[in-house]
Amino acid sequence: MRQVLVLNGPNLGRLGSREPEVYGTADYGALLETCRAAGRTLGLEVDVRQTDSEAELIGWIHEAAVHKWPVVLNPAAFTHYSYALRDALAMRTAPLVEVHLTNPARREQFRHTSVVAAVADGTVAGFGLLSYRLALQAVATLAEAAPPAAAPGAAARDSGPAAG
Ligand code: DQA
Repeated sequence: MRQVLVLNGPNLGRLGSREPEVYGTADYGALLETCRAAGRTLGLEVDVRQTDSEAELIGWIHEAAVHKWPVVLNPAAFTHYSYALRDALAMRTAPLVEVHLTNPARREQFRHTSVVAAVADGTVAGFGLLSYRLALQAVATLAEAAPPAAAPGAAARDSGPAAG
């Protein structure tokens, strides 16, 4: 069964009590269950993790790159400013889908920038927990279409100068 990481950044462990008027009343346990249920339907082994630490999150991204695991990532506030996270994601070796519960484009100006979007295959945002189900569906489709491969850019790097 294909292994997929669902990674969640800072403050997402507080779902349920965190600004319910913005994020809703479903808690982190409900997020876990949504992802596990989607995994069962899609035939994916889903490992859901959350951290408030940028270093720990980057460590998990490295781990995914080593094992060629697809990733669904909600970088939370790191979305908007973490170049370290973006650089880690650029080393990915399997599909990556950025996910958000809310639609950052409808919120404060500082949330309109994602420094990770350009290194993701795509972004699902604005549908609450459904965003995660849709993101896992996208990752399952991408992983099927493109089985574990070298990191983006590796072909160009490895091919060397053209002969002749
Ligand atoms: C979020 C949106 C971010 O702007 C915010 O910092 C979060 C959650 C979302 O899922 O809607 O923590 O990533």
